[in-house]
Amino acid sequence: MMLHVPGVLTPEQVRQFRQQLAAAEWIDGRASVGPQGAAVKRNRQLAEGSPLCVELGNIIVRALTANPLFFSGALPLRILPPYFNSYTGGEHYGLHIDGAIRARNDGSQTLRADVSTTVFLSDPEEYEGGELTVMDSYGSHEVKLPAGDAIVYPSSSIHRVNPVTKGERIASFLWTQSMVRDDWKRSMLFDLDQNIQKLRGQHGDNEATVGLAGHYHNLLRMWAEM
Ligand code: NI
Repeated sequence: MMLHVPGVLTPEQVRQFRQQLAAAEWIDGRASVGPQGAAVKRNRQLAEGSPLCVELGNIIVRALTANPLFFSGALPLRILPPYFNSYTGGEHYGLHIDGAIRARNDGSQTLRADVSTTVFLSDPEEYEGGELTVMDSYGSHEVKLPAGDAIVYPSSSIHRVNPVTKGERIASFLWTQSMVRDDWKRSMLFDLDQNIQKLRGQHGDNEATVGLAGHYHNLLRMWAEM
């Protein structure tokens, strides 16, 4: 399932992020990938663990975990500190799959990557190309969202970032281990939750919505791993 989460960061937060990132020191993006990724990855990123990376990453994790749509779609158990990257002058990230097990460089945190998230920090008008293209059984999906919005997609999908032919594309990306590892089960829970919310909005709480909420929680009880 791919999920667009609008307004993860406020316009004011995006402005502050951009101001701080404009003065940041960027390193070769190949620092955080294995050999297959390194062969196709051409971009720059903030060094993992650098003070700015940690500071901005914490703001993103707080914003995402407080976001009901992200929570419902990702069912996060833990989130690895976010990375920040920049693409300019034809930089790109060719077809690849995110590694199943992700760890911080210092080994202090490891997780199984179930859900990948990109938070856009540049507006679409600021650059040409740079679409995140995600392949699934329905074909390929090109994603280019307003600054502050996020796209959430299964880490099991093959994806790429098209060359940025003009301007600069700045984004943050992160991995989440979900309480529900299977994408299809997560997607079913998300649909159920969203429809229960709709029914509650239309009719208020009644015996049927309480029953459906019970069904949701009992499925989550059956499938959640902690
Ligand atoms: Ni990736």
